[in-house]
Amino acid sequence: MTDRKERISRRGFLKTAAAAGAALAISPAWNNVQATTRAVSGNKPASGGDAKAATVTAHRTLGTGQAAFEVSALGFGVMGMTYNRSWHPDKAQCIRLLHEAMDRGVTLFDTAIIYGPLNNELLAGEALGEFHGKVNVTTKFGHEVIDGKATGRQDSRPATIRRYCEESLKRLRTDCIPMFYQHRFDPNTPVEDVAGTISDLIKEGKVLHWGMCEVSAATIRKAHVICPLTAIQSEYHLMHREVEKNGVLDVCRELGIGFVPYSPMNRGFLGGDLNEYTQFDPNNDNRTTLPRFTPEAMRANYRIVNVLQRFGRERGMTAAQLALGWLLQKEPWIVPIPGTTKLSHLEGNLRTLDFTLSTEEWKQLEDEVSAIPITGDRYNAEQQKQVGF
Ligand SMILES: NC(=O)c1ccc[n+]([C@@H]2O[C@H](COP(=O)([O-])OP(=O)(O)OC[C@H]3O[C@@H](n4cnc5c(N)ncnc54)[C@H](OP(=O)(O)O)[C@@H]3O)[C@@H](O)[C@H]2O)c1
Repeated sequence: MTDRKERISRRGFLKTAAAAGAALAISPAWNNVQATTRAVSGNKPASGGDAKAATVTAHRTLGTGQAAFEVSALGFGVMGMTYNRSWHPDKAQCIRLLHEAMDRGVTLFDTAIIYGPLNNELLAGEALGEFHGKVNVTTKFGHEVIDGKATGRQDSRPATIRRYCEESLKRLRTDCIPMFYQHRFDPNTPVEDVAGTISDLIKEGKVLHWGMCEVSAATIRKAHVICPLTAIQSEYHLMHREVEKNGVLDVCRELGIGFVPYSPMNRGFLGGDLNEYTQFDPNNDNRTTLPRFTPEAMRANYRIVNVLQRFGRERGMTAAQLALGWLLQKEPWIVPIPGTTKLSHLEGNLRTLDFTLSTEEWKQLEDEVSAIPITGDRYNAEQQKQVGF
């Protein structure tokens, strides 16, 4: 209890400090961002010598009209705290880090039923459930989970969505899911039925907004007509730019739908801490199944990290900050959700918003990275079959 009081008073302090800070000089690219930005972080880049904890006060709006959802410009991916990322600290430390992120202004936290399964939602609920309304824990349905185990099948039938919704509400310790995503397309359930079910759940007050992951532009159009989408969540980062080519970003722009890039640092690779010698836990890390994470692929692809590190050295930025900043400058309706288990990484990632690069500099970085051929596909054949419908 004392802990929480301290947290809340510290939070007030951080807010005041941020509000008092001067707005940063923004380059043309970041001016676009300002259009939907409520406030800009008052912290200065590392070179400015500001010793305050990094906070995010910049907000972005995902979706438009009734589907509009205002969130912090950077979110937090909770998945890796229990699932798919090999190593994580104990629950108490994870909860402390989630509270730290909240104290520092993060209002968008991302989980899913399949993560664990279930234990990631349980963690998010235990840490953040009591702060419902101040922060948003978004979650995802679709992957079938029976008796706490993943079956590998999809199930987005209306009755299942309703059941998953009730169960997620309990695990997240809330009475309304701020955003409910369909995690993967279900070939056996028409998208119109999925959208219709979500529309009913929104009317009933159990869900506030909805989104879809890894779907095609055509599916987005069909779904949006029935129930306006707030966000599409698909993989997007400097090493995987498919959504620029397959019409997904175009349709989001056209229809006013937000975009949440998942794995914004390519599952940590772009942060530079992983290399060909990294040993993943085969029981709790999907990177062991991804062609891009074999030792050979990581050795070849490390040239990309080298580019980021060299580019960053001249600007006082880390490779991770460049990976996140590149996404943020793409569109003002993009909100990345990096995951971490470390306070130092949270601190650095939030400071991404303090840096100013010109459009030309981002282009130079993008061109240098694009010139390097990428070794290994992002997914194996089985995983690839589940995306792009
Ligand atoms: N919709 C979907 O299908 C889908 C799929 C995958 C993921 N997601 C969502 O996206 C979120 C993020 O994805 P992700 O975890 O796959 O990838 P990510 O955010 O690209 O990378 C996370 C990894 O990067 C490391 N990291 C974080 N900050 C760093 C920094 N500053 N420097 C170096 N390394 C850093 C973390 O390790 P440390 O713990 O050591 O910091 C962590 O293992 C997930 O939590 C999940 O919510 C959604």
